[in-house]
Order: sequence, then C-alpha cells, then structure tokens
Amino acid sequence: WKIIHLDEVNSTNDYAKSIAEESPEGTVVIAKRQTAGKGRKGRSWASPQGGLWMSVILKPERTDPRLVFVGALAVVDTLADFGIRGWIKWPNDVWVEGKKIAGVLTEGKAEKFVVMGIGLNVNNEIPADLRETATSMRAILGKRLEFNEVTNRVLAHLGRWYKLFQEEPLNVIEAVKERTLLINREVTVIHSDGEISGTAVDILEDGSLLIDTGEVRVRVVYGDVSVR
Ligand code: BTN
Repeated sequence: WKIIHLDEVNSTNDYAKSIAEESPEGTVVIAKRQTAGKGRKGRSWASPQGGLWMSVILKPERTDPRLVFVGALAVVDTLADFGIRGWIKWPNDVWVEGKKIAGVLTEGKAEKFVVMGIGLNVNNEIPADLRETATSMRAILGKRLEFNEVTNRVLAHLGRWYKLFQEEPLNVIEAVKERTLLINREVTVIHSDGEISGTAVDILEDGSLLIDTGEVRVRVVYGDVSVR
C-alpha cells in the first residue's frame, strides 16, 4: 500500500478518483475529516475526526460490482480482531448490535480503475440525529481504539480478500453468505420504480439477493436498491 494522509478533504473517494488514472493499484487515501463525505444514492456521510475515512485505488482486470463485498468483509474481519461481531447488511453496510457501523462505496471508470471507499466509525462521535441507527467501535467497546492499528487491520484484510476475490470470486460470495444478516429475514427492497417485500432466501453467485415473495422468487441486483 502507498498511503496518502490528508487532514481534510471533501471526499476521499473524489480525491482518489482524481488521481486514480496516474496512480498505481494499492494507492490509499486517508483523511482525518471529510467536509462532503458521500454515501450511496447521493446521501451524505458524516465524517468527523476519529473515524476511518479511506479510499483504495484498485485496478482489477474487469470491473465487477461484487467487489463491494471485499470492503465489507475486510471491515467485518477487522471488527472481529477487536472482539466485535459485525454483520454484512447486503450489499454494502456493516452492522453491529442492530446499528450501522460502516459503509462501502465503490466508484470507478470502466476498465480503468475502481475506487473503494470505506467509512468505519472508530473513535468518532456519532451525530445526535444518527444515534438511533449508527454506532462506533468506541461506543461498542467503551474505550478509544488505537487508530493506526484499526487502519492497518482493515488494509491487511482488504488485501487478503481482494486476492481471494481475484482468484475465485465465489469464495467471497460464500464468505458474505456466512456473515450476512438478511438470509431468512423478511425484507423490503426499495428500487427505482417500487418495492418488493418477501423473505430473503439466498445470495447468488452474481452477488444478487434472491427474494421469495410467497408467489414468485425475484432476483434483486444491487446497485440501485436499499433494504429495510
Ligand atoms: C454508504 O453506506 O452509503 C457508504 C458510505 C461510504 C463512506 C466512505 S468514507 C470514505 C469514502 N469517501 C466518501 O466520500 N465516502 C466513502
């Protein structure tokens, strides 16, 4: 990894995208604070000091939407290193004790690069209006964590899962299935022109979520959906 440390930036994803074409794979951008952190679907991502706001430049042979799982798995394994049990909320969130602790946002330019943005609440304060739904490692463990240790763990796990992904993406899908919250749960998927409710029954090889509505089985491709 070649790490670029910034004090403040609008979004590490935007910064990484701006340098991605001329930067080697494995370039990492980490900022102490983001002034315009981005979540999926145009949402904003609160990014005060103390959290891990990081974007990794990857240059896979093919762009593959399943890459987002590599980031989620790296976070779940990092949490486990600190004794925290985290779950992947398909497709790109990590939850602990019923609250969101991390999110992954991949962006890219087809056949050129992928920027994998990871936001993990480590020691940062959770804004008051998010406390019902979001948590941090510090809140869970009741103590501050060694920030560099968390960063190094995420990068180590990310490297390992990325390598496995390139060798055999299906191993990654299997790992996601073991760490996912949704299987056998009642879910509602919200997409561009409506909602589907039913039981989530499987994550398929292409990374899509299979939902049984009671009448039909629907395959939901991620990217344009959120699950509630
Ligand atoms: C989500 O849950 O919707 C994804 C959140 C991703 C947040 C991270 S923080 C580092 C990187 N830079 C951004 O602007 N967003 C991602």
